[in-house]
Amino acid sequence: MEKRTDWYEHPEYYEAIFGTDTVREADFLQALSARHGTGGRLWLEPACGAGRLVEEAARRGLEVVGYDISEAMLRHARKRLTPAQRRRVRLSQSRMETFFEPSLEGRVDVAHNLVSTFRYLDSEAAAREHLIGTRRLLKPGGIYVLGFHLTDYERFKPEHERWVGQVGKDRVVCNTHEGLPDRRLRLSPMRNRLRITGPGKDWLIETTWYFRTYSGPQARKLFRDAGLRVAAAYDFDYDLDSPVGRGSPRLDRVFVLQPDPER
Ligand SMILES: C[S@@+](CC[C@H](N)C(=O)[O-])C[C@H]1O[C@@H](n2cnc3c(N)ncnc32)[C@H](O)[C@@H]1O
Repeated sequence: MEKRTDWYEHPEYYEAIFGTDTVREADFLQALSARHGTGGRLWLEPACGAGRLVEEAARRGLEVVGYDISEAMLRHARKRLTPAQRRRVRLSQSRMETFFEPSLEGRVDVAHNLVSTFRYLDSEAAAREHLIGTRRLLKPGGIYVLGFHLTDYERFKPEHERWVGQVGKDRVVCNTHEGLPDRRLRLSPMRNRLRITGPGKDWLIETTWYFRTYSGPQARKLFRDAGLRVAAAYDFDYDLDSPVGRGSPRLDRVFVLQPDPER
């Protein structure tokens, strides 16, 4: 078996597992955009990865700006676009902590970051900088749709999820473990194993990192500190008619954030 260490160096396998909900997510974002009356033409995707949602938004005729820290993911994103889509898309290498583009200031209708990527920002300062920077780019009625799992600090067992996908003749088995959260450091240890088997191929791609942890009140305090208000909250069912209340036992959350006019 051949061992490798960064799943984001292998976008095709990453997307075989995590790229299956793209149309539903884009439908949900467009429905949110209509509900909040954003106008909806200019979308920004921080940490856009290999560009599955960038491509889908461009396919729908939207203007799209995306950035990511990983050049391998961006290469894949650029390759997948048709020439017509490329004219509507701008991609660059940048970090969530520091991204700023003067020509976008106050212009973005919809920013989105749906699959827990926000939790890579591993300190309060980094997360706040990202939110303040994104808020500056939103127009006054624009929305930042932020999806991630809240943390149950009372949890006493690690969590495990398993998915299976296929890329051509290669079978992809993905196992993700989230260890116990450290309440003081506000971090959870994460481990992802992708096992890829196919003709002449047996790879194990193991990636480890830490995710920042948030209770509901910790997330809401951070949003307030960054000058954002929670306009609505949902879960990963993406059902516009079923917003989640603060008391919901579910931990998956999609927050719809708007610039707070009073801040
Ligand atoms: C889970 S993927 C999500 C990709 C994409 N948003 C999607 O929904 O398919 C996480 C992405 O975050 C990027 N990333 C991680 N830390 C980052 C940072 N500090 N700034 C920018 N991108 C980052 C990784 O390179 C990776 O492409």
